[in-house]
Amino acid sequence: MAADERGGVLGAGETLAVACQDLDALSAHIGDCQRCDLALTRTRLVFGFGDPHAKLMFIGEAPGKNEDLKGEPFVGAAGKLLDELLASVGLDRHDVYIANVLKCRPPANRNPKPDEIATCTPFLAEQVALIAPAVVVTLGNFATRYILGTDEAITQLRGNLYHVDGRQVMPIFHPAAALYSPDKKQYLFDDFARLRAVLDESGA
Ligand code: URA
Repeated sequence: MAADERGGVLGAGETLAVACQDLDALSAHIGDCQRCDLALTRTRLVFGFGDPHAKLMFIGEAPGKNEDLKGEPFVGAAGKLLDELLASVGLDRHDVYIANVLKCRPPANRNPKPDEIATCTPFLAEQVALIAPAVVVTLGNFATRYILGTDEAITQLRGNLYHVDGRQVMPIFHPAAALYSPDKKQYLFDDFARLRAVLDESGA
């Protein structure tokens, strides 16, 4: 397989039995979700945030403590860095769409479990299909593995451009991983500069 043609799952593969007409309908379909045990410990389900017609979509891992309390993705320290990265290329969070692999916080921010990912990602696939972004940026290992259908580590993949289901996909480090690592932070700013060029070239 060519390096940029991955057998990923963007809006394909796992689809809902009944496709939703828009994000509001999808959110209503998810409802007060009790489909996995994360419902027992979450405060709020974090559906997503941003422009429902965004050309650029970010996919993180799962809500953390602040996101669980507010019901919005990336509102803690990692979110502040994400806002800085967006600003570095002339964007803010209202210009893009931000979602996560999981819509509920894992206790103590532990890693998502395979059954939680399997239960929750059909909703993410539907979100991607409805938003139909030209470019998807995956933040860290979990989002990248899911979208690209790969086991390769983010350190190998970051900053490269892949093509899945007609969309451009760029994996980058998770902002939380860069909070205390100046090297990773610099890679993130470098990758955002590349992202700006990709957006400009694709007219997105
Ligand atoms: N980390 C994530 O992956 N997602 C969030 O929404 C917040 C922190």
